[in-house]
Amino acid sequence: MVLDEKIKQQLIDTLYQGITDEMNSAYQYIALAGRYGDGELKQAFLHYAQDELRHADKLMGMLRDMGEELQHLPVVQEDQEDLYLYLIEYMAKEESAVFYYEALEQLITQPELQLLCRSMRGEEQMHLSQMRALYQKLKQK
Ligand SMILES: [Fe+2]
Ligand SMILES: [Fe+2]
Repeated sequence: MVLDEKIKQQLIDTLYQGITDEMNSAYQYIALAGRYGDGELKQAFLHYAQDELRHADKLMGMLRDMGEELQHLPVVQEDQEDLYLYLIEYMAKEESAVFYYEALEQLITQPELQLLCRSMRGEEQMHLSQMRALYQKLKQK
C-alpha cells in the first residue's frame, strides 16, 4: 500500500469510529434525558444529543465525499442505573471527543474541513465543561 492509500484508509477508519461514537453518545443522551433529572437537566441532555447527531451527520458527509459506501454502524444502549456514574463516564467520553477532533484535524488536508473539526472540538469542550458544572451542582443537592 502506498502512503497516500494508507492515510486514506486511516482517515476512513477514524471517520467510522467517530460516527459510531457520536451516534452512541446521542442515543445515550436521549435515554438520559428521558430517565433522569429536572427540566434543566433533560434539556441539557437533549441539547448534547442534538449536537452529537449533527457531528455524526458531518462525519458521514466526509465519508460520502470520499466515495465511501456506509457500512453497518452499531448503536447500543448501555444500561447504567446510576446518574452519577453515567455523568463520570460521559465526561470522559466528551474529553476523548475533544482529542478525537484534534486528531482528525491532523489527518485531513482541506482547510474548510479542518475548520469544521475545530468548531466541533469547541462544542465537545463545551459539553465537557457544562457536564462538569452539572455534576458539581447535582452533588451539592
Ligand atoms: Fe460530538
Ligand atoms: Fe459531545
